[in-house]
Amino acid sequence: MNILEAKKYGKEQLKNSPSPDLDVSVLLQFVTGFDRTQLLLKRDCNLSKEQETNFLDAIKRRKTGLPVAYITGHKEFYGYDFYVTPAVLIPKPDTEILIDQALNSLALFYSKNENKDGSIKKIPEICDMCSGSGCVGISVLKALLENDGISVNCLPRMTFVDISADALEITKKNAERLLGKGEKLNNPENLTSALLKIRFIQSNLFENVPFSFDYILTNPPYVPHSESLELLKDGRSEPLLALDGDVGSDGEYSGTEDGLFLIKRLVPKCFEHLVCGGTLIMETGEYNAEQTAKLFEKTGFKNVHIEKDLNDMLRDVTGTKPHSLAFSSIA
Ligand SMILES: C[S@@+](CC[C@H](N)C(=O)[O-])C[C@H]1O[C@@H](n2cnc3c(N)ncnc32)[C@H](O)[C@@H]1O
Repeated sequence: MNILEAKKYGKEQLKNSPSPDLDVSVLLQFVTGFDRTQLLLKRDCNLSKEQETNFLDAIKRRKTGLPVAYITGHKEFYGYDFYVTPAVLIPKPDTEILIDQALNSLALFYSKNENKDGSIKKIPEICDMCSGSGCVGISVLKALLENDGISVNCLPRMTFVDISADALEITKKNAERLLGKGEKLNNPENLTSALLKIRFIQSNLFENVPFSFDYILTNPPYVPHSESLELLKDGRSEPLLALDGDVGSDGEYSGTEDGLFLIKRLVPKCFEHLVCGGTLIMETGEYNAEQTAKLFEKTGFKNVHIEKDLNDMLRDVTGTKPHSLAFSSIA
């Protein structure tokens, strides 16, 4: 089978996929190691026996609904290549706005905390709650290093938290892969000091997290229960735990249908674990962002606002814990 024949076969087999051309192209790149241009130029080139077997197997798996990212083990997010398995949610473009917001706010944090000699008074403490692949916290660290010129010594201390041991393993693997590379980190000393600043904690929300943070960044499960089950029917194999927002602290279905059961526990816990003046940025569904914003206000957060994503959908809710929590009392 040559590349042209493989393309034709793949597209026919995947005609029910929403993106057969793209799927076949990515799977062929995966099995051959060619890029998109090489695939066009070498279309008469025969696949080796091993490549053909791997391609037919990949097509068979994709036909079951398994996402291309789980077949190749890779997903690009915020320009970085994340390793993914069905233990973690595949990073979504909707989440990139959370990184932009965090970086904008961190730029202010750094400028407020800069001494006259350029040194930094306070290193930000950040928690990536519900970390999954680690795409949120790792992208923030990488962008600070590579785009904003923050030195390894001044990088935030990042704490990744996930309830799933398997997901946390993937967070770790991505941190080691992505923070071990890069111009600024290519010597082992720097790698060690960057990774030493990272904590990985397996925990049900903040149960095992005895720290306070300047920032909590989180993309928690927020999809209503019945919609989560419906989504999984297409064979995508993403973990229900990563999607379903209607589970209780025991992991059992709570009986609610607004996707907010976990968020209702999470928001007050975030308030407790933020320093005064600290910021919470939380991804939500376009259908429950406004209710989440009300919950932020009810909990005591100030400057609460909702940010839209690139598709103009309500996406991230942000709030600040006030500097003074004291109420004036009349004697
Ligand atoms: C929507 S995924 C987000 C993953 C990743 N941060 C992203 O943006 O792609 C939610 C993650 O929350 C984790 N999770 C679910 N319930 C949790 C809980 N009670 N405490 C901590 N993590 C939880 C899941 O294991 C999953 O990895």
